[in-house]
Amino acid sequence: MRVGVLTGGGDCPGLNAVIRAVVRKGVAEYGYEFLGFRDGWRGPLENVTSALGIPQVRGILPRGGTVLGSSRTNPFTVEGGVEQIKANLQVNGVDALIAIGGEDTLGVATKLADLEVDVVGVPKTIDNDLGGTDFTFGFDTAVNIATEAIDRLHTTAESHHRVLVVEVMGRHAGWIALHSGIAGGANIILIPEQPFDIEHVCKLVEQRFQLQYAPIIVVAEGAVPAEGDMAMVTGDVDAFGHVRLGGIGDRLAREIEVRTGKEARAVVLGHIQRGGTPTAFDRWLATRFGLHAIEAVHDGDFGKMVALRGTDIVRVDLVEGTGQLKTVSPSLYAEAEVLFG
Ligand code: F6P
Repeated sequence: MRVGVLTGGGDCPGLNAVIRAVVRKGVAEYGYEFLGFRDGWRGPLENVTSALGIPQVRGILPRGGTVLGSSRTNPFTVEGGVEQIKANLQVNGVDALIAIGGEDTLGVATKLADLEVDVVGVPKTIDNDLGGTDFTFGFDTAVNIATEAIDRLHTTAESHHRVLVVEVMGRHAGWIALHSGIAGGANIILIPEQPFDIEHVCKLVEQRFQLQYAPIIVVAEGAVPAEGDMAMVTGDVDAFGHVRLGGIGDRLAREIEVRTGKEARAVVLGHIQRGGTPTAFDRWLATRFGLHAIEAVHDGDFGKMVALRGTDIVRVDLVEGTGQLKTVSPSLYAEAEVLFG
């Protein structure tokens, strides 16, 4: 049996831990051979491959990024893309594929599985917004990075009596903002799921200054004001049609300055949240996902995605992961609101 492995979409700490676990168990328990496909779906589409075996996975467990490279290539936007993929799998003698990715990469895997490509999915995204699984790996690392940043911003904000707005990733879901905001003791957390009232935000800012503290506002990049679209977008879209976001932090800081007269600055954490070494939790989760993904291949259980349920790793239909985004519920957000201001 020869198994192809690819990593697609935005990179994420823990990808290498999955690759390592897949290969280590595949070789040791099943005697499988492996082939790496480079840069997400571009690999099988354009037949760009790299050797993948025990020597290639040595020492990669704590490394961020992905040794296989990544891209947001969508084979369904390329004419004859699916046939090209099938032909390249055959040319390379690849019997099954493990696709490690988020909604877009696994969305492609879902469609390919319907077209009789033997594929198993592994969910990854720092955004933690994939359905079917309690957590995706990469999220814990991103939350820890954002929390450390918030901790640091508290002291400088207080020294200068400033408002500091921290923009974190999350275009449709506010998981990183919510978890890091709670962990970092933010005074206000703004998420895409709950359009915010700028007047209310300013009221909380003033309230915070009255307590002799400086406010820290954590805002997800996809957060929007209730009265209209204040999010700054570049207008560019990627291969999956997602608008490139950015700018809500700056815009919010300026608005707060004008409305409250308090100095406000914005910090955009951006790709820092995705880079570097994964936390122990993410290494643990990614490794277990990898071990269970190769087991699914061995069982011939294709069209499935491995998922975390409680402390168990289970298999769910790929479409369960990609069908509907997992967002922050109003009740979960309300739970944190009591700490605002
Ligand atoms: O999908 C994960 C994510 O981190 C989003 O939160 C963010 O909007 C996006 O990737 C940005 O990715 P890139 O800059 O690589 O296009």
